Amino acid sequence: MKFSHAWIESNPWLLIGLVLLVISFGGAVEIIPLFFQKTLTEPVTGLKPYTALTLTGRDIYIREGCYGCHSQMIRPFRAETERYGHYSVAGESVYDHPFQWGSKRTGPDLARVGARYSDDWHRTHLNNPRDLVPESNMPGYPWLAKTPLDPAEVIPKMHALKRLGVPYAESDIVAAPATLVGKSEQDALIAYLQGLGTLIKTRN
Ligand code: HEC
Repeated sequence: MKFSHAWIESNPWLLIGLVLLVISFGGAVEIIPLFFQKTLTEPVTGLKPYTALTLTGRDIYIREGCYGCHSQMIRPFRAETERYGHYSVAGESVYDHPFQWGSKRTGPDLARVGARYSDDWHRTHLNNPRDLVPESNMPGYPWLAKTPLDPAEVIPKMHALKRLGVPYAESDIVAAPATLVGKSEQDALIAYLQGLGTLIKTRN
């Protein structure tokens, strides 16, 4: 009877313990190797940390909840790659803390929206999407164009990212606020959008 299947199943606490053990082992075998796979931890060729302006734009993207309607993760399926371009690879987001992959798509995926439209297109679209896409249900964000950036805010953000492994030099951080003087929140957000997914050539 000892250690038989029936005995284990009639001891709930033992069963729970053994189930947890099996799940933890299975999870560890699947997850731990990912930390050591170079394709997942190394930046793709040419990937640079966000500039002060694009980093600030990214934070506005997060603050405004753009991720609530837009994913940044092109899956490796034909329907997706035909529409958006090359599927997303992990090495593109190694400097993203937190990453913006997501899966909610009320609007289109934005992983490769960089350089697809002009800056002016984005300005008009962010002020009132319906001026360009009459059927759009995306809200307008007209105040971004009128809100100036606070240049000093970027310093602690860059320090925090540096601590997480983003290779900013101290001199980059010191020089950063000067690059934000006179820019609006809309300038920063557009600079961020224009850089998305441009490192992997996707369109023919
Ligand atoms: C309520 C959902 C919703 C929210 C929130 C939202 N969007 Fe959109 N977005 C859409 C929809 C729907 C479209 C497609 C129609 C259009 O182009 O306006 C779109 C389109 C876009 C496009 C054009 C994509 C393409 O490939 O044509 C960009 C860029 C964009 N959104 C950026 C943003 C940014 C930046 C924010 C946050 C400031 C944001 N969106 C917030 C729904 C949303």
